[in-house]
Amino acid sequence: MAKIVFHGQSCIELVAANGTRILVDPFLTGNPRADVEASHFEDRLDYVLLTHGHGDHTADAWDLLTRTGATLVGTYEIVTYAGEVHGIENAHPMHIGGGWDFPFGRVKMTIALHGGKIDGPNAAGYTTQPAGFVVELDGTRVYLAGDTALTRDMELLRDQVDVALLPIGDNFTMGPEDAARAVDMIRPNMAIPIHYGTWEMIDVDPNQFVRAVGDLAEVRVLEPGDALNL
Ligand code: NI
Ligand code: MN
Repeated sequence: MAKIVFHGQSCIELVAANGTRILVDPFLTGNPRADVEASHFEDRLDYVLLTHGHGDHTADAWDLLTRTGATLVGTYEIVTYAGEVHGIENAHPMHIGGGWDFPFGRVKMTIALHGGKIDGPNAAGYTTQPAGFVVELDGTRVYLAGDTALTRDMELLRDQVDVALLPIGDNFTMGPEDAARAVDMIRPNMAIPIHYGTWEMIDVDPNQFVRAVGDLAEVRVLEPGDALNL
């Protein structure tokens, strides 16, 4: 049985039944709500998935990838940046609309409407397109929306997703009302709010999201450190 662990902001750990450990958007150093430090993942890390280049998604990525030898999965531009600037060669480039069958399951890269800057040293010239992922893990399809506005393209995910992790923090991404409209478009069985409460600018009460979703889907509000078996 696959497992999801929330580590604050958009940092999500996915663990497959066979032990494969995947970390999405590692932001632990400097994350006031993170429950663990980056070193927590040093004993085993197989994949790092990056939705986009902003620091609240990539803070620990380059260092963790270098130290653990995990495989980076991201856009062509992010993978090129990681290789040329940080010397990270264990990487799999993808782009929006494309899918790939990894040993743990299929990953498809989805549209996100957001900013494309890559935060990090010597990142000029590596601007990317932000993205989301649908990760199939032990038969469960998990949608990690990344940082995004509500977009009608989400209708294309209807009935393709079992669990949807959606940003609700407003200001930089969808707020709780728009995230609930995304649930209405996608119709997952379960929705999990992310990317809120880390700082004042995204200090949103997740119960607003719970109320707005109503009975469209089961909503699970996770505190940093909470794990959920899929
Ligand atoms: Ni962002
Ligand atoms: Mn963000």
